[in-house]
Amino acid sequence: MVRRVALEDPSRRLGRLESVVDRLRLHAASLESFPSIYQVFRAVQPDECYHLAAQSFVSYSFDDEFSTLNTNINGTHFVLAALKDIVPKCRFYFAGSSEMFGRVAEIPQTETTRFHPRSAYGISKVAGFDLTRNYREAYGIHASNGILFNHESPRRGFEFVTRKITSGIARILAGQTKELRLGNLDAKRDWGHARDYVEAMWAMLQQDEPDDYVVATGRSHSVSEFVRMACGIVGLDPDKYVVRDPEFYRPAEVQLLIGNSAKAQAQLGWRPKTQFEGLVCEMVAADCESLGIDVPVAKPIEVE
Ligand code: GDD
Repeated sequence: MVRRVALEDPSRRLGRLESVVDRLRLHAASLESFPSIYQVFRAVQPDECYHLAAQSFVSYSFDDEFSTLNTNINGTHFVLAALKDIVPKCRFYFAGSSEMFGRVAEIPQTETTRFHPRSAYGISKVAGFDLTRNYREAYGIHASNGILFNHESPRRGFEFVTRKITSGIARILAGQTKELRLGNLDAKRDWGHARDYVEAMWAMLQQDEPDDYVVATGRSHSVSEFVRMACGIVGLDPDKYVVRDPEFYRPAEVQLLIGNSAKAQAQLGWRPKTQFEGLVCEMVAADCESLGIDVPVAKPIEVE
């Protein structure tokens, strides 16, 4: 399901689907319109529904709390309500987020850690989480929540810090810019690879019973460590290029996230295959390659 505007301009809007688009049937609908979602469910009669759509940029949710809350909370409610009416046997995945933990009540965070969101985005995800659990308990829907920690890849949007760093480094090497403007370098995140995390989503819907799962690597790194590792791969001195810019600080920050995915590992047989170092290498290499920069970067480190 994609917005009509994307179908009208696929080269600009659907670039990330290029390699698979021939095998997909895309339907136009909007999270903001219950009837449009209803019609897609009626036409498709899905067996599984992965609800990933949202205003997902935490920083932007401070600029526009209203649209973040409206779209994210109502959108999730619309999807669940349509599913219950039309395909109650359809299995449902909700993209919860480690942002729900916010000011963390314990370290590491698990499925039972109390939520304390620190942004409209985090609040909207807590609401979606509760809606999903309620549809499971009240209506017997096979509805699962993934509590996914940050997951990255070369396909990440440019506004998120990892891609901003790796694309910025490539642009510095290409002579297109002389600086990398960032906000809070001390924030720590548990960064994993999106490719691994999608496997966990799928595994949740293959279980006999729906449930809630933390998906994380169990390792946390600061933004500053990400910058140093990414710069180190291509031999740049970060102190020469990184500029701290107050514009990129948030009114309320989530300072530390680190997840314990023991439940997902035990029940889903899932575990992260790509380590932090491999992720950073892959992202730096992809951004350099896209600008035609030949840098001898190490291949992603995969662990079995
Ligand atoms: N975006 C951004 N830009 N973040 C910066 C910058 C900057 O210039 N400088 C420092 N940061 C810090 C942010 O303050 C935050 O602490 C951290 O880098 C990560 O920011 P993002 O990459 O924007 O991701 P996020 O952690 O806020 O949220 C992502 O992960 C969540 C799961 O924990 C998003 O993908 C969410 O949608 C997702 O739910």
